[in-house]
Amino acid sequence: MIIVTGATGALNGLTVEHLLNRIPPSDIGVSVRDPKRAQHLADRGVRVRQGSYDEPAALRDSFADAEQVLLVSSSDVTADVNSQHRTAIDAAVEAGAKRILYTSAHGTGFNTPYPPLAINAAAEQYLAESGVAWTALRNGFYGHLEQLLGPWQATGTIAKPADGPFAWVDRRDAGEAAATILTSAEAFEGPVNLTPASPVTLTDFAAQASELSGRPVERIVVDDEEWVAGEIADGVPESAARFTLAMFQATRSNHFAQPDHTLSRLLGREPRSIADQLADQPVRAV
Ligand SMILES: NC(=O)c1ccc[n+]([C@@H]2O[C@H](COP(=O)([O-])OP(=O)(O)OC[C@H]3O[C@@H](n4cnc5c(N)ncnc54)[C@H](OP(=O)(O)O)[C@@H]3O)[C@@H](O)[C@H]2O)c1
Repeated sequence: MIIVTGATGALNGLTVEHLLNRIPPSDIGVSVRDPKRAQHLADRGVRVRQGSYDEPAALRDSFADAEQVLLVSSSDVTADVNSQHRTAIDAAVEAGAKRILYTSAHGTGFNTPYPPLAINAAAEQYLAESGVAWTALRNGFYGHLEQLLGPWQATGTIAKPADGPFAWVDRRDAGEAAATILTSAEAFEGPVNLTPASPVTLTDFAAQASELSGRPVERIVVDDEEWVAGEIADGVPESAARFTLAMFQATRSNHFAQPDHTLSRLLGREPRSIADQLADQPVRAV
């Protein structure tokens, strides 16, 4: 059985959908904090059990019968996520899983230009020491385009701090690749980069947005502190603005620009390009 955590979240929810296209529902289980939110999966024959990274006993029970366990990286910003990841890994080991997978991020390391990556590095290190086979799904950056680009459809500009090249992946492709790895006869050992072959910049997004909309979309570089002040004035908590700023600053180092072809190999096609993703973005009033 393959057990997936975070199945009521965006990424691993997509992974479960792709698993359902590949294997019988009776071979899939989910470990979720709120089983009511996974009723749609129970209705299709997926085993749904309650589990939280804060409750080791429930977690072990939800991992029972697992051949493989896919652990989502915790999104709980109020918690000690390193300890949560260790609890989840311990529970998977104790439940007898033969392989543990973890949703990591590209460029992960303890000393990188982007400090949050140390959380993934710690989880990967703990997995390596667990004695069980493991795979780290090192996804590129992903998320809502509106958050990354701002309201470009209304303003005709992408006004953000200076950036550098970074790997931007469509979350649908990341979920599909995870399901492919989980059901593959090939063993994927340790870190696996799941990034498109070519990195992009916000200037590339502006060029594609111009082409798509048929009118110029300008990339405007905003001074770091000016941008943070603008975000705060718009009601964004300063900590959240600085977290995003740190990501832009980190991309300036070229740390996220390494090409990799594993994702296209797994998908059997090119990953969705930024043009594809922009075309899928809901149209906003101009
Ligand atoms: N590579 C990137 O650019 C990028 C971008 C965003 C996020 N991430 C990371 O990748 C993860 C998956 O992304 P996503 O888009 O799927 O985020 P998401 O939609 O916020 O999903 C996060 C999932 O983590 C679960 N979770 C949080 N705390 C937990 C706990 N204590 N025990 C068990 N499960 C817990 C949540 O459970 P509930 O459904 O019960 O809330 C949710 O299902 C995120 O958690 C974050 O660490 C990476």
